[in-house]
Amino acid sequence: MKIVSTVKELTALREELKGNIGLVPTMGALHNGHLSLIRQARIQNDTVIVSIFVNPTQFLPNEDYSKYPRREEADLKVCTLAGVDILFMPTVEEMYFGTEPEIAAPKNLSYILEGESRPGHFDGVLRVVLKLFHLTRPTNAYFGKKDAQQLYLIQNMVKTLFLHVNIVAGDIIRENDGLALSSRNAYLSEKERIKALALSIALKNASQAIMKGERDAKKVELIMLESLKDLRVDYAKVLSRDFVCKEQIVIKDTILLIAAYVGQTRLLDNLWI
Ligand code: PAF
Repeated sequence: MKIVSTVKELTALREELKGNIGLVPTMGALHNGHLSLIRQARIQNDTVIVSIFVNPTQFLPNEDYSKYPRREEADLKVCTLAGVDILFMPTVEEMYFGTEPEIAAPKNLSYILEGESRPGHFDGVLRVVLKLFHLTRPTNAYFGKKDAQQLYLIQNMVKTLFLHVNIVAGDIIRENDGLALSSRNAYLSEKERIKALALSIALKNASQAIMKGERDAKKVELIMLESLKDLRVDYAKVLSRDFVCKEQIVIKDTILLIAAYVGQTRLLDNLWI
């Protein structure tokens, strides 16, 4: 595995590459969710590039960028064992210049749900993802379904800017008890870890109601809220897969989305119906 930290080194390596290239962009603190994306990329491409970059522009001023988990040594091991070819770990100075053109996610999509609590967050995500696409020119790029809104906005950017990359959506990976894997789970105490199960239970209860025939989106939202009653809920929504509120649930065109605080930790989970 080649580890590079400068754009110059990455560009030189990229020039040599032939065949399909799979890019897995990450912010590090790699867990089995990332690993499953890397494994999928390994199977589907000749070369696998993983980027690890804690991107400052997607953190709001009140969010602690410096406290985001960083586990460089463990991440290197994961990438080596998973057969990654190139690991790109740039510094902030390498990725950002004083003069940057504005890249803004579409307002109607990026200021709802995650964007409502974290205005501007998706502008930063799209900005860094676009830079990574330009630097690596991947055939396929891999993103987890767990960040469903991020995934949708990236797919939308690819479509509307005519980018030549195929976006591959990786399934949510869960612990045996249902907790969706997330780098943020590291912040949970033992008690909080148990409380956090309410998110996946809420999704399960909602999906069972839908399987039994419930199609009223508001009623399904209430079922989720009932299961989340011991947590501070940011949102528990039933939307179509293009992130529009619909009164009626349509099978194969619905996402159930939850964001809730367990203690100080804000967790996300979702289920595609
Ligand atoms: O999902 C993430 O880890 C980040 O938002 C991403 C896509 C790597 C951009 O920094």
